[in-house]
Formats: sequence, C-alpha cells, structure tokens
Amino acid sequence: MWRSLILAAGLIACLIPTGTLAQENLKSVTVEIYLPESAQLFIEGQEMKSKGSKRLFVSPPLPPGKYAYTIKMINPDSDGPRTVTHQIEVQPGDFESIDLRAPDKRPITDVEYEPTPQKVVDALLRLGKVTRKDVIWDLGCGDGRIPVTAAKVYGCTAYGVDIDPERVKDSLSSVRKQGVGQLVTIEQRDIFTLDLSKGPTVVTLYLLPHLNAKLLPQLRKLPPGARVISVAHRMADIKPDEQIVVETELGDFDVYLWKAETLRGN
Ligand SMILES: C[S@@+](CC[C@H](N)C(=O)[O-])C[C@H]1O[C@@H](n2cnc3c(N)ncnc32)[C@H](O)[C@@H]1O
Repeated sequence: MWRSLILAAGLIACLIPTGTLAQENLKSVTVEIYLPESAQLFIEGQEMKSKGSKRLFVSPPLPPGKYAYTIKMINPDSDGPRTVTHQIEVQPGDFESIDLRAPDKRPITDVEYEPTPQKVVDALLRLGKVTRKDVIWDLGCGDGRIPVTAAKVYGCTAYGVDIDPERVKDSLSSVRKQGVGQLVTIEQRDIFTLDLSKGPTVVTLYLLPHLNAKLLPQLRKLPPGARVISVAHRMADIKPDEQIVVETELGDFDVYLWKAETLRGN
C-alpha cells in the first residue's frame, strides 16, 4: 500500500491548488545516501543524476501519511557489479540517512556528529522541566553540551555516552573546562547496549527517525515519570506529549517530548 502512496505522491503534489490549506500541510522527505563514489543510484527505479559519495534525495511535497522508498545501488566491482537494495519507511518532514557502503567501509557511528545549537539545548532542558533531582542521559553526546549544560544550570547529575572516541575526548575536555566533573560522567558506549530501566529520569536524543524507532524497546523500560526529549526527529508514530519549535540562525528546530508512560502506551 505504501508503494502506491509513493507513486501517487508526485501526482498529488501537482493536483493540490496553490494557497489551499491542504498545500500548507505538504512536506518533503529528505534522505541522504552514502555509497561508493562510482556507484549508480536508483530511487523507485529512477536513476539519480547526482554523483559523489554522499547524495541527497528530496521528495516532492507530500500530504501526511506513511511512505516507503526503494533505494537501489549498483556498484561496479572488480568481481562484477554488486547490487544493494534497501527499503526506507518515511513520513513527510523526515530527514533520514542510510549507508549503502560495505560494512567495513562504514564509520562506527550510526549517525554523523552534529551539535544541537546551544539555544536549543537550553530550550529542551526547560521543556523537560529539569530539576537538580533529575538524572539526564544524552545518548550520543557529541561534545557533551547537553550533560554539561544540565549540570551547570540545574545542578543535576548527567551521563553522556558516545561511540566515537573523538567525541568522548571532546566531552571530557568540556566537563573539565566547565568544572562539572562531580556531576557529569562520560563514557564510550554504544547506545543500543544500554539498560535504561534504572538510571535516567530524562533521556535526550539527536539521532534519526529510524534510530529513535530502534531505541524504543529500551526507552519503554524507563522508570515511571521519566521523559524522553528528541531534537528534530519523531518517535515512530507516537504522538509527543509536548512539542516546541526553536528558532536559531541555522533554521527552526522541532523538539519533541514523550513521557515514559506514553511510549509504553498507557
Ligand atoms: C547528531 S550528534 C548529537 C550530539 C549531541 N547529542 C548534541 O545534541 O549536541 C549524534 C551523536 O551520536 C553519536 N553516535 C552515533 N551512533 C552512536 C551509537 N551507536 N552509540 C553511541 N553514540 C553514537 C555520534 O558520534 C554523534 O556524536
């Protein structure tokens, strides 16, 4: 069914008259695709003209709904061409990223480092109604700005984990510079191995829609009263309990909050 929605998407975009309320609800899907430089890329059977090791696909503006795109890569190889096909499930407004390179050519990270602007960090901690009694875990902590700010401003304890040793170094250096070593712990860990059932009362994420969905079984084990805050990305189909938009020099950032109970469906 999703496939037919996609095929209809381009047509729908053309049929909706300019200026109608319906058109205001239309949003594009953006997918960045990592692949070998010389590979051919096909989306829904159509060859993309762009070249390079990172290519960007932007859909036509789409009405709300669920869509699936079939992404195929043909990589010329010395042993003959290698074909990889990947199906991605998206919703209008999503930004997604997929990596079609061979596993030994991919980075260790599931998502590239991109810091949350400080204005958004401040806003998300306010949205989470953080107090000094909270325990904040930032999953994929980058340079540690979320745990460091939480400790400095609210005096709470915080834990940042990142799989990338360079980011762990950056975080530890920021913890030292800001003098919050008593409150903040940083570790090199893979977020998908963490037990979230005991430690955190607030979990912060700036990942991707498919990674948020993959984390859901872990997030559903959070203790009652815990909150999950995601920068920019939805959590599967689960309606957030709260949502804000923060204006920054880099553009508007959506920030979503779910209570642990909402994620569990009760
Ligand atoms: C978009 S950045 C967000 C950084 C920080 N949370 C912020 O908001 O400024 C995502 C971070 O997740 C880290 N990361 C990616 N995959 C990971 C994984 N499987 N386990 C732990 N960290 C991961 C990356 O190294 C990167 O620093």
